[in-house]
Amino acid sequence: MTTTKPVTIHTLHEMKQRGDKIAMLTAYDATFARLLDESGVDILLVGDSLGMVVQGHETTLPVTLDEMIYHTRAVARATRRAQVVGDMPFMTYQAGVEQALVNAGRLIKEGGCGAVKLEGGAQHAELVSKLVACGIPVMGHIGLTPQSFHQLGGFKIQGRERGQAEQLLDDARALQEAGAYSLVLEGIPREIAEAISAELRIPTIGIGAGNGCDGQVLVIYDLLGMDDSFKPKFVRRYANFATRIRTAVDAYIGDVRSGAFPAEHESFAMKPRKRRDTPQNIEPISANAASGDELGGLYSSPVSGD
Ligand code: KIV
Repeated sequence: MTTTKPVTIHTLHEMKQRGDKIAMLTAYDATFARLLDESGVDILLVGDSLGMVVQGHETTLPVTLDEMIYHTRAVARATRRAQVVGDMPFMTYQAGVEQALVNAGRLIKEGGCGAVKLEGGAQHAELVSKLVACGIPVMGHIGLTPQSFHQLGGFKIQGRERGQAEQLLDDARALQEAGAYSLVLEGIPREIAEAISAELRIPTIGIGAGNGCDGQVLVIYDLLGMDDSFKPKFVRRYANFATRIRTAVDAYIGDVRSGAFPAEHESFAMKPRKRRDTPQNIEPISANAASGDELGGLYSSPVSGD
């Protein structure tokens, strides 16, 4: 059952113990965050996938810490219940523990999230334990780690080669022992994800990792079908917003061009006492008086007709 109590790392552990699946989605702005939070999603990940779906890059590598902080702040501001997790972007935690602590601290302090996520396994165990010691909850991320795009030779399924399954299990164990409170398993065979999920005490969240994980995550734009040229096997589209947006915008352009928009009920009339005024004797509204109220509460809700 979804309550309004904020989701914490303890809530997520209890969910795993009860066998309740965790629903996680990405969000990058306040409007989406509010909608997804109201729908009852458990975790909102401000993923560095924003580099691809919001900024239009080919990979997540160009995303900066300042950009992550900006988007995380917008999401956190609009979220009441879900746990907000901020992604640590490429090269903000790999170059040294000190720098990583400072950067994760900025994401928490300035971004307002409740946890950070970082990619990679056992090599980050020391960093994870230091972050946790500083009071920063850490979500791990192993398997297909998009920040290693060049090293992996592309966005390729991981764990199918000899020895990789054992390596993934070792990484998962190392992150748990270091204090990570949850783990994203991306792009790995479902048998491996199931084995990791069964062994770990902490919840696993899968993406392209089958149904044996403790929860699932998708990029919200993929779930909504915002890009009709992108449909990997692991994505389920719950809507086709690319077509719906195009249809709506086509209708708008048609209405503007034909003069059908705005109609009379979508515009404002003079105040009754001014009805007879001609443009010459209408008093100008002073700069000080030009507040929303003086202008008829243009952005107050509901917008009145006249
Ligand atoms: O950046 C992201 O959105 C992610 C998820 C896909 C797990 O890392």
